[in-house]
Amino acid sequence: MKNELLILAPLPDFLMNPLLAANTCHDYFHASNKAALLAQVGAKVRGIVMAGGSVAPVALLEQLPKLEIISVFGVGYDGVPVDWCKAHNIHVTNTPDVLTEDVADTASALVLMTSRRLIAANRFLHEGAWLQGAFPLAHALHGKLAGIVGLGRIGKAIALRLGAHGMRVAYHGRTKQAVNWKYFESLIELAKAVDFLVVACPGGAATKHLINAEVLAALGTKGTLINIARGSVVDEGALIAALQNGTIRGAGLDVFADEPRVPEALMQCENAVLLPHLGSGTHETRAAMARLVVENLAAHFSGAALLTPVC
Ligand code: 8YV
Repeated sequence: MKNELLILAPLPDFLMNPLLAANTCHDYFHASNKAALLAQVGAKVRGIVMAGGSVAPVALLEQLPKLEIISVFGVGYDGVPVDWCKAHNIHVTNTPDVLTEDVADTASALVLMTSRRLIAANRFLHEGAWLQGAFPLAHALHGKLAGIVGLGRIGKAIALRLGAHGMRVAYHGRTKQAVNWKYFESLIELAKAVDFLVVACPGGAATKHLINAEVLAALGTKGTLINIARGSVVDEGALIAALQNGTIRGAGLDVFADEPRVPEALMQCENAVLLPHLGSGTHETRAAMARLVVENLAAHFSGAALLTPVC
């Protein structure tokens, strides 16, 4: 007998096909009448599949009395009420490690694109402006200081890449780690010191609006904000004001507060490089992430140990 799964996000075919081969999948994300779908299948659902940016509210989980496992197609599980799941014996899995290098590449690309103004330079050439004169000078990376907020697996991979560009690296997080990069207990002091503040910490309530107007003011006109983590970590209104007023030099963002909606005011900011949440978006990495989702579910339903458990 196939297991019943509820699908909370739009998922690629290379994930949906193996899921459909072993399970009966109910597409909650695209269902026009979600309440009717829940009334029909809620009592049978044993597993949920969702993406990194999607949310599984407690109010929904309460309607799934047979739920055993939530498998997240992403490393970030800030959309899952993990404490509630623990209390109700529901397992949660994610896709760590396999996406680290791609996300770190994206962060490092955003540092390059913002400092060397590569996107503007590309537009300049396409528009034929080179014929009228040279593109304005940009800023060098070597010798500059990058501050990583959240030195986890991805944060460390970013630090290594920025080091290869000749940058110095410092970091802020809950605890000092046994690494050679300089630790700042205070986020404000880190922001004051650095040229690039690179956000790589988990999303969720604990980090909501960690990067606020005060931090941006500390980063100042010499500074650029990079975010490849979650939009929720940054107070987007304060960031837009800081970009408009020139409080900071620029921003490179792969994540936003209300994806895929990006505020018009942010899209108008010439000093922002904006990417559509593509950090892990390569064929190779998304295939590896999909495999982990499928294998975690298969392990659970066959009584084997989970490959990448959160709880
Ligand atoms: C993905 C992510 O974009 O891993 C995460 O937490 O946000 C991204 O890798 C997403 O989960 C895939 O839809």
